[in-house]
Amino acid sequence: MKTKDVEKLYAEYILPTYKQNGICLVKGKGARVWDLEQREYLDFFPGWAVSGLGHCHPAVVNALKTQSRKILHISNNFLNIKQAELAREIVKNSFPAKVFFCNSGAEALDGAVKVARKFGAASGRYEIITLKKSFHGRTFAGIAATGQDKVKEGFQPMLEGFRYADMNDLESVRQQVTPKTAAILLEPVQGEGGVSTATQDFMQGLRRLCDEKNMLLMVDEVQTGMGRTGRMFAYQHYGLEPDVMTLAKSLGSGVPIGAFVVHNRLGALMGPGSHGCTYGGNPLVCAAGLAVFKAIKKGGLIEKTKKLGDYFGAQLEALKKRQPVIQEIRGLALMRGLALSVPGAPIVEKAAQKGLLINCTQETVLRIMPPLIVTRKQIDRALYILEQVLLESR
Ligand SMILES: Cc1ncc(COP(=O)(O)O)c(C=O)c1O
Repeated sequence: MKTKDVEKLYAEYILPTYKQNGICLVKGKGARVWDLEQREYLDFFPGWAVSGLGHCHPAVVNALKTQSRKILHISNNFLNIKQAELAREIVKNSFPAKVFFCNSGAEALDGAVKVARKFGAASGRYEIITLKKSFHGRTFAGIAATGQDKVKEGFQPMLEGFRYADMNDLESVRQQVTPKTAAILLEPVQGEGGVSTATQDFMQGLRRLCDEKNMLLMVDEVQTGMGRTGRMFAYQHYGLEPDVMTLAKSLGSGVPIGAFVVHNRLGALMGPGSHGCTYGGNPLVCAAGLAVFKAIKKGGLIEKTKKLGDYFGAQLEALKKRQPVIQEIRGLALMRGLALSVPGAPIVEKAAQKGLLINCTQETVLRIMPPLIVTRKQIDRALYILEQVLLESR
């Protein structure tokens, strides 16, 4: 089979909801992938930030092999060792909490919205404040929470109860608080929204506001979690604890897993029958999640990400000086955005032709999120390719 044959199958059988780039990937190892015609690429946006440990990390592959020989799936009415152990690992690395497992980021977000509704129910509160330009997934709760009109078009009426404020503008959040507000939800670094990072003042101000008004602070760490920003979870940069956290993407480094994490101080909000998910946290995906935590610890990957992130950031700043088309370098550690003065899509396409996979969001922001196992040499190579593309695009 050739790429054009796969394209024909797509045209005939796949609902065309995604813009395709015409590349058919068939193999991956670390930060590298290969297409059907054996062309090699450096993958600096692996699986939309899912493959945090890179492609086919041996620890994840071995865990999947071992678990798949024992049992793949059991219902959540049975005790599941891997699920219990993975929940313990998440809690050990975050805050005193209980974990619910699901399959994706949007489902995790839906669960968090249900927690906020349950929390507010006793006092008649159900509104959630989210941020403009945020992205929280494609389910109905996800698109309602998302502060971008484009994901809602044609799907009205929305789930009610969401109000939107500006990133890093505490006053605009305060203005959205009503007697019905139950929670504030945000990504500490907005991914789809153009890689904008919450400031210390803003985040701490939100925590104080939530404490003052007895509202929940909920962080969506679907994209920022699992070490990407140089801390296990991005909220840890701010010296505070959220009440609810959502996870997905690199929690399984390639297998579909999501979770929402509810602080113990909320007590027994979500009791038996309040939520469920048939596949959620099955032994196979939780074995992968456990392997991810172990690999991060064993490889000292948080420390390495901090150092590599500093290096990457410095190199990007140097690139910005040489290439005036770059207006601003955004983000933290290995989650970076390059705000351009020109559209980013043609740059992404040309970079792919030269063997570098990156992403563009908000039309003009290049988003670059290499796996945590990336090397300096690979970073240098990626930046070299990017610079060639920028030079040719002038
Ligand atoms: C911050 C954030 N939340 C939620 C989601 C939705 O996750 P999923 O696509 O796994 O449903 C995404 C996906 O990009 C995301 O970046």
